[in-house]
Amino acid sequence: MKIAIGGDHVGQILKPEIIEYIEGLGHEIKDFGPFTTERTHYPIYAKQVAEAVASGEYDKGILICGTGVGISIAANKVKGIRAVCCSEPYSARLSREHNDTNILAFGSRVVGLELAKMIVEEWLIASYEGGRHGTRIEMIAEIENHNDLDGESQKLNC
Ligand code: RB5
Repeated sequence: MKIAIGGDHVGQILKPEIIEYIEGLGHEIKDFGPFTTERTHYPIYAKQVAEAVASGEYDKGILICGTGVGISIAANKVKGIRAVCCSEPYSARLSREHNDTNILAFGSRVVGLELAKMIVEEWLIASYEGGRHGTRIEMIAEIENHNDLDGESQKLNC
């Protein structure tokens, strides 16, 4: 799998070891930065990784900030992105199986390295189940598409 990864200065505490771990699982990974722990702004990297995934250039994305919250919110602003912020493996797996998430976010202030590895591995091996979940994914896309219609009265079918 081709994976895009990014974060912020706080996420940088975990990111190098997560990259090494993912490479060890046999995936190709590109680091979009940052490359130091100097204070920066997570939306910069969230946007780059989210656009790399939304364009189809990368299969999945991983984002790490202090909590995973800000960076997942920013990534979810990019059309086509379904980013999950989670700090345990169960939600990570279900987010793939039910929600077809294409970005995983977590926080280096919330999870330690070993738990982060479990979350990443569970998320990477799980597959989207489709079926009834597809209807809900389409409904989410419908919200996103209606938000593109600037100024028009918007009537959702969901
Ligand atoms: C940076 O201080 C911190 O706000 C950021 O890493 C993240 O936790 C935001 O959600």
